[in-house]
Amino acid sequence: MKNKVSIIGAGMTGSTTAHWLAEKEIADLVLVDIVEGMPQGKALDLQQAMPVVYKDVTIVGSNDYEATAGSDIVVITAGIPRKPGMSRDDLLTTNAKIVQKATTETLNLSPEAIIVVLTNPLDTMAYLAMKSGKLPPQRVIGQAGILDSARMRAFVSMELGVSVENVHCYVLGGHGDEMVPLSHISNVAGVPLDEILPPDRLEAIVERTRKGGGEIVSLLKTGSAYYAPAAAVTQMVEAILKNKQLIVPAAAYLQGEYGLNDIFFGVPVQIGRNGVEKIIEYQLNDAEREALKKSAGAVRETISALHSLIEI
Ligand code: APR
Repeated sequence: MKNKVSIIGAGMTGSTTAHWLAEKEIADLVLVDIVEGMPQGKALDLQQAMPVVYKDVTIVGSNDYEATAGSDIVVITAGIPRKPGMSRDDLLTTNAKIVQKATTETLNLSPEAIIVVLTNPLDTMAYLAMKSGKLPPQRVIGQAGILDSARMRAFVSMELGVSVENVHCYVLGGHGDEMVPLSHISNVAGVPLDEILPPDRLEAIVERTRKGGGEIVSLLKTGSAYYAPAAAVTQMVEAILKNKQLIVPAAAYLQGEYGLNDIFFGVPVQIGRNGVEKIIEYQLNDAEREALKKSAGAVRETISALHSLIEI
């Protein structure tokens, strides 16, 4: 039987995710959106691209959830994106209701599905999905760390003129401006970044990584990044469906790891057919530990705001 992946929210990120996934031919796809005709139109267009690229994938668009029944994975991208000057937390009030509905509706029809959350504010939306779906922590993963790390990898590769394949970066923490790029564990072909780059260049890259999403929002003016976020989701979906046991940074529910409890937070996780198979604990130095604490504080504030908005 073929795998089935449903993507809730067929906007920029949702439809780009469908595009990347279809090219991989690893699952049939369903796109759901509230805008009438839009998910159907995008699905049909993508379906008609399949003969050109020789991929046997069925893509369905819908305005209701029935079509998602029996999904192996549900990707939630529904919600509003940032406008210039907005933080991810500014999206909380609108997106919380959307994510809660998307979670409960899809789980009714796909009770075994693994949920991958992309809607911002990311860590808090993943927390909301897990709590409202009453899911075991393993089955909810937030996409942020692969994206933030990929931004850093792109900047390092551009700075040094080396292949992205040689650049390994690890950005942990919440998906906000307090995220924590690890410059010692990050490396180029095994050599730690802080031994390769002069401190001022490294600091500039770290800063640009932290503000990477905002830089794109300012340029686009009417939306936020979607190519790299969608590529990151695709990597996670593939790791789950192929049971790859892939280690990447992602938002997972912590129960004591890194000294944190009852919070979704970006940490290295091992991803396989069960979702989060394992949380990996890095040995961090004092400054990194302190930075993670600060980032966790910011996520906790948004989770508290969520509790005052919505009953979970
Ligand atoms: N059910 C289904 N779809 C919905 C709902 C809902 N209740 N509410 C909104 N949507 C849809 C919108 O109609 C839109 O097509 O979600 C889609 C979001 O797409 P975009 O506006 O293009 O936004 P996008 O860039 O894809 O970002 C979506 O992901 O990266 C995050 O911060 C970003 O939270 C934002 C989300």
